[in-house]
Amino acid sequence: VHTGMQGIRLGVVGCGAVGATFAYTALIRGLAGELVLIDANRNKALGDALDMSHGAPFVPPCRVVAGDYPDLAGCQVVVIAAGVNQQPGETRLDLVRRNAQVIGEVVPSILRHAPDTILLMATNPVDILAYQAYRISGLPVERVVGSGTLLDSARFRYLIGQELNIHPRSIHAYIVGEHGDSEVPIWSGTTVAGTPLGDAPPLGLPRERRAAIFAETRDAAYRIIAAKGATYYAIALALARICEAILNDENTVLTVSTLVPRYGVYMGVPCVVGRHGARGPLPLALTEDEIQALDRSAAVLQQTLAELGL
Ligand SMILES: NC(=O)c1ccc[n+]([C@@H]2O[C@H](COP(=O)([O-])OP(=O)(O)OC[C@H]3O[C@@H](n4cnc5c(N)ncnc54)[C@H](O)[C@@H]3O)[C@@H](O)[C@H]2O)c1
Repeated sequence: VHTGMQGIRLGVVGCGAVGATFAYTALIRGLAGELVLIDANRNKALGDALDMSHGAPFVPPCRVVAGDYPDLAGCQVVVIAAGVNQQPGETRLDLVRRNAQVIGEVVPSILRHAPDTILLMATNPVDILAYQAYRISGLPVERVVGSGTLLDSARFRYLIGQELNIHPRSIHAYIVGEHGDSEVPIWSGTTVAGTPLGDAPPLGLPRERRAAIFAETRDAAYRIIAAKGATYYAIALALARICEAILNDENTVLTVSTLVPRYGVYMGVPCVVGRHGARGPLPLALTEDEIQALDRSAAVLQQTLAELGL
């Protein structure tokens, strides 16, 4: 019987598609001895807690409860996936403002009861809202982490792996920058067994295939949302991976969102993730074109932060 995670408490604030799927993933993977689910819609959290609890005979020991902010006391990590959905006719900035208001409410409520926790932001636009959470929380920067481009990097590795017929685990490839339209693929640093990709098989990808793979990576969410309204499985796995790295003090390198001093914004960059949270960014070896693309991505985030007065 797996008992290693007794004493580990994970909180989830915002138990919608993303939050609930994350909780379910954490349950199956035995990441915590206790999962605390909080949602503005209390019945949703209650229903999810009951539904997951009934799976107890089939998973490692874990108490799943619907709660309120005081129940977050002692949580090592709190995942924030609370937010409102974009309505037809709304601009992106409208969504930013509405979700910034939600984050402005939930972060102080979390910290009132769990001052030692690590905040893991999933709500979009994740880089902007992780930065906002960092600013209003007063926490050390390591302890406010956004899911960043970890999901995008996973999509990228999956697609490259499909093309080369090599498992994504063995593809070392990174998407950095904004989790969004301006994100940047680091083709120059993409390697298999330490060898950079060339133009010909077995480790080759011609220029037009690269463009298609990156476009599919960047636009994946649009495609999935058009097909079924939301994305939640892969982001839940990505969030679970970040939690696992924190809880096991792994010091694993993951492309999460952190403050990049050069730009003064949060964005997805390789960081060392362990019990301290996320320490980064690690230095990036980039081509001139990649640096320019990252500058442009930072500019998009800087402008949005300025419009929000952050
Ligand atoms: N970071 C990523 O890579 C990534 C991937 C997918 C989705 N997301 C984002 O995650 C967020 C959630 O998406 P979803 O599909 O789960 O949405 P959803 O509508 O299914 O769930 C959002 C939940 O938040 C709750 N909520 C709203 N305001 C709240 C508040 N003040 N306090 C507590 N709970 C509150 C709602 O009741 C709802 O249950 C969105 O912003 C989405 O864009 C991020």
